[in-house]
Amino acid sequence: MKIFNTKQEIKSYLTTQKEEHKTIGFVPTMGALHQGHLSLVKKAKKKNDIVVVSIFVNPTQFDKKEDLTNYPKTIENDTQLLESISCDVLFFPSVEEIYDHHILSEKFDFDGLEHQMEGKFRPGHFDGVGTIVKTLFKIVAPNKAYFGQKDFQQLQIIKKMVRKNRLNVKIKGCPIFRENDGLAMSSRNTRLSEEQRAAAPFIYKVLKKVRKKFGPENIIELNEWVENQFKKHPFFKLEYFTIADEKSLETIKNRESNKKYRAFIAVFAGKIRLIDNIRL
Ligand code: PAF
Repeated sequence: MKIFNTKQEIKSYLTTQKEEHKTIGFVPTMGALHQGHLSLVKKAKKKNDIVVVSIFVNPTQFDKKEDLTNYPKTIENDTQLLESISCDVLFFPSVEEIYDHHILSEKFDFDGLEHQMEGKFRPGHFDGVGTIVKTLFKIVAPNKAYFGQKDFQQLQIIKKMVRKNRLNVKIKGCPIFRENDGLAMSSRNTRLSEEQRAAAPFIYKVLKKVRKKFGPENIIELNEWVENQFKKHPFFKLEYFTIADEKSLETIKNRESNKKYRAFIAVFAGKIRLIDNIRL
């Protein structure tokens, strides 16, 4: 696997590859890689000649400094994992390389998608995500880019950004990868205590029950039911639960027959924030 730390080096390498008509698949990450990330890389490998993974803990998308400082950093293990699945290129730039000395976000208009769910609780988060993804797309210029559906709102926002900016890249959303007990894989899971980790499959259990209970007219009751599940819980505090339209991400009050919906949840285990979602 080739490892590049500068824009110049990776651009020059990829330019040569493109001149040879090779297609580029791209998996942007913040490192602390797990099987969910690796599943994206494997998918990208099947459909492209060269797969590039970036590892960059992007400061502008963290609304809390503490969360940025505590974000797990495991570059040696990440490199080994990527080597083990024959990833072609790792891009691992420094903050200065990406932002120079101006660690600031561009301001985006995602047609309202940014004001829903995560946007209500993490001010500036999606401007940060938009900024880094656009920057990385400019550097790597991939044919296809792969994102997990665990961050479903992020996925929809990136699709919107690509459409609005007419970027020449196909965005591929990939299914959520779960541990055997149902917990959605996340780099943050490694920060859970033993007790929190053991209890965490509860989140997906609740979502699965919601999927079973979801009917045409019971959305208010369902919301109350979920809130009650968490009120009683010794480890988890519910930040939000909502049933939303997959396209607009707007919370719904009534179910319509020709639309697709998802239930979205954000939960705190102590200071660690976990999100998950399920197709209804
Ligand atoms: O999902 C992530 O890991 C990050 O938000 C991303 C897309 C790599 C941008 O920093």
